[in-house]
Formats: sequence, C-alpha cells, structure tokens
Amino acid sequence: MKNILCIGAGYVGGPTMAVIADRCPDLTVTVVDINAVRIAAWNSDELPIYEPGLDEVVKRCRGRNLFYSTDIPKAIREADLIFVSVNTPTKTFGAGAGKAADLQYLEKTARSIIEHAESDKIVVEKSTLPVRTAQAMSRILHSNTKNLKFQILSNPEFLAEGTAIRDLENPDRVLIGGMETPEGQGAIEALASIYARWVPRERIITTNLWSSELTKLVSNALLAQRVSSVNSISALCEKTEANIDEVTGAAGKDSRIGPKFLKASIGFGGSCFKKDILNLVYLCGHYGLPEVADYWEQVIKMNDFQARRFVGNMLAAMFNTVADKKIAIFGFAFKADTGDTRESPACAVCLQLLEEHARLNIHDPKALGNAKLDLEGVAGDISYLEDPYEAAKGVHAIAVVTEWKSFRELDYQRIYDSMEKPAFLFDGRNILDHKMLFEIGFNVYPIGKRKLTHF
Ligand code: UDX
Ligand code: ADP
Repeated sequence: MKNILCIGAGYVGGPTMAVIADRCPDLTVTVVDINAVRIAAWNSDELPIYEPGLDEVVKRCRGRNLFYSTDIPKAIREADLIFVSVNTPTKTFGAGAGKAADLQYLEKTARSIIEHAESDKIVVEKSTLPVRTAQAMSRILHSNTKNLKFQILSNPEFLAEGTAIRDLENPDRVLIGGMETPEGQGAIEALASIYARWVPRERIITTNLWSSELTKLVSNALLAQRVSSVNSISALCEKTEANIDEVTGAAGKDSRIGPKFLKASIGFGGSCFKKDILNLVYLCGHYGLPEVADYWEQVIKMNDFQARRFVGNMLAAMFNTVADKKIAIFGFAFKADTGDTRESPACAVCLQLLEEHARLNIHDPKALGNAKLDLEGVAGDISYLEDPYEAAKGVHAIAVVTEWKSFRELDYQRIYDSMEKPAFLFDGRNILDHKMLFEIGFNVYPIGKRKLTHF
C-alpha cells in the first residue's frame, strides 16, 4: 500500500487526506476533483474551506506527500486504495425527490474508476450513503471487462466542521465495514493499518458493510434528535419560566444522558443532519416501515419549527411588524468556526425576515462569501458587512444566529448607542450575557429563557 487517492476535495476529503498525509509520511496521498477552481485553491495560500488548524497541516505536507490534482485518470491508474468522497446531496428530482440520496456523482466516480484502473484496488466509501450502496458500487466496479478485482469498504467520516483537524487527529472511533470474506477482511486490515499509525487499535471498530453504512446515518440522526429534543423543550421553557440551560444542565448530569450536544439553538444546520435523516426516512419507507419513518421525520419538522418560532418571537416582540426595519444578523454559518452555510438555519431566518420586508445587515466573520451566494437573486434589501459595529449601526434589532466567540467580545454599549430605540436583541444561541445587555438598555430575548424587557 503506497499510493492513496481521494476523489472529491470537499469538506470531508480535503481535511481527512491532509491528516492522513501528515501522519503517514511514507504514503503518497493525492486528492482529485472535477472542480478545477477548487483544486487550484487547495494548491494556493487561500484554501477553499476554513477550518482551524487546516492551513498548518496542508502547508507541512503539500508537495511532500500530499498532492492536489485534476488529472483523475492518472491518479486512478496509480492508486492502490481510493477514498470516494464526492457529494451525495438529497435528490431534487424524480423518484424519492426531497428524501433519497442523489447518487449520480458516486456512480460517475465508480465508472471513471473502471475506465482508468489497470490493477486491482480497494475502494473506500467515505461519503455518507444509504445502506447497501456498497452493493451497487461493487456491481458497477465488477462490470469492468479488464478482469479487475475491487474490494469495497465503508469508512464513514465522523468529523464535525470547525473541529475537523482535532476530530481527525484524535477520533472517538474509526469505523471500517467490509465484506465478511478473507479478501474483505484483508482490505479492512489494510485500511485499519493506516489509521493505526495514530489511532489506538481499540478505537478502530470493524463491522460488516451494512452496519457501517447504517451507523453513519444513525449517529447523525441521534445527534440531530438530541438537538430537536432540547429545542422542543426550549419552547416549553419560554411558556413556563423554566430555564433551558438549567434544565439541560441538570438533566445532563445523569451519566446516561451526558452533558454534550444539549445546547438550545435556532436549529441545527450543516450538510449532514437533514440529509442523513431524510435518507433514513426514505429507507424506512422503502422497507415498509412508515411508523419508523414518521418518527425520524419529526426531528426535521421540529428543527424547521424552531427557526419559524424564532422569527415569530421577533415579530411579536417588535410590535408585529418588521417591515422596513433594519435588522442586524450576527452570523450566517451553520455553526461557529466554519465558513460553511449549507442548510444553515440562519438562511431560513433571513428568508422569513425578508418575506416580512425587513432590511438585513448580515455580518459573519467567515461566511459572508457563501451568504452572498445563498441569497443571490433573493428579493429584498440585504447588505453584507465585515464590521459588526457597522452592521449594527442604526438597526432596530440584532439577531444572533451563529455562536461565534467573537460576538461575545463586542462592545455592546457602543452597539446599543448606535441603534434605534427601543433596541432589541434576539439571542438565538444563548451565548451573550443577557443580564448585562438588559442593564445597558437592550430588550433581550433568549431561547428557552425568560425575556428581559424594559416595557
Ligand atoms: C455533524 C456530526 O457531528 C459529525 O459527526 C458528522 O460527521 C457530520 O455532521 P457538523 O454538521 O459539522 O457535524 O456539526 P455539529 O457540531 O454536529 O453541529 C450540527 C448542527 O447542530 C449545528 O448547526 C450546530 O449549531 C447545531 N447544534 C449542535 C445545536 O444546535 N446544539 C448543540 O448542542 C449542538
Ligand atoms: P463533502 O462535505 O461531503 O466533502 P463537498 O460538496 O464539500 O462534500 O465535496 C464533494 C466534492 O466532490 C466536490 O468538490 C465535487 O466537485 C467533487 N466531485 C463530485 N463528483 C466528482 C467526480 N465524479 N469526480 C471527482 N470529483 C467529484
């Protein structure tokens, strides 16, 4: 095993291969993509994605044993092991539209592997996929007329954006699924031995292919369910004067529940949670389990409800109209420490506010470029501002929708002084010091906590 290839240079393939190259200097790691602009960015000083710590790792390895290229045929010919990390978005057309995964990029990748391969290879599914995709992948690969043999592995990635490098360097677990045949087990061991250079063996879990594929969907579904559960209770807290942080703090002390991933918010976003749950819902429907499908679909419905509820609270607080009012939107990324805006609840909030004819000043430390793309062509008065103080100047309200640490460090007296009065602050992430803001003069609306108003 000498040459590792990754097809797809995105949020998963990019950081994952950088860390493999870093930890395995004796391997040659090549990352290819059909998107030449993206590859050029990986080869430049301005990487195509923002991820803390990524620049350093890439700088250490690029040109040494880490290469970014658009020459897909050559890379396939030379590779011993190929990670497939292309996008698998939710289908927007035809059968299963809105739920099933769109596997066209995956199938095209499999076909280009058989077109260019000249030797046997291990092919590793890295993208999140519906259960039993490996079977389809295997059938396509083995339709080759060159008598080539492929071993298919499932090795889902569990990294979270914003902490990708930390997650890759110190993963809770690495999961590798393969066929229960001697060849399958050999392929599992070949991949496990790569991770074993830096991950303790007991954290490398091996299963059959289908368990591995399903585990990825289930892990994300369970995490998303936790967020929706907490957000549903945040609505009840606002009605009962209970405090969501006190409730989850105390509930999370039960070691069976645990303290993590219990933060109320305007909702979850990101490329995975919604897509994977929809995928799970589709699979359950396909296998004749409508009750199970409905159960998981509710997690998404609750998430949509939470963003709508947030905007509803804004409207109610601001005398039932935001028409023509300027509102500063603090954050657009789906979470802090990333420039990624895929499925960001911030976008849903902005669209609803624009429907109400609000005028928006959007500020985000890393995601303004993506915000502009997401809102391209959307009617309304939208400004994008690098400076949070400029974004807040003259506005009626501030809505905090991403939990950037920098928002905690702003001079809110200065911001208050520059705003229209009464000044409203809606903290969709519960990250600010609400009492201090109230004392400055803001009317403060947290999530799942008593509002602090001067009326
Ligand atoms: C997720 C999984 O964590 C990761 O294992 C998988 O590989 C990909 O999907 P990611 O989408 O990058 O990672 O971010 P994550 O930290 O899980 O957050 C997802 C969303 O949930 C964000 O919008 C975040 O703000 C929200 N969230 C998270 C909450 O609202 N409350 C929480 O307590 C935690
Ligand atoms: P993820 O978050 O799963 O990494 P991204 O959308 O960020 O998803 O990245 C997937 C990448 O895969 C994109 O850069 C896309 O151009 C690339 N890609 C899609 N299809 C192919 C293909 N057939 N060959 C090579 N790269 C591909």
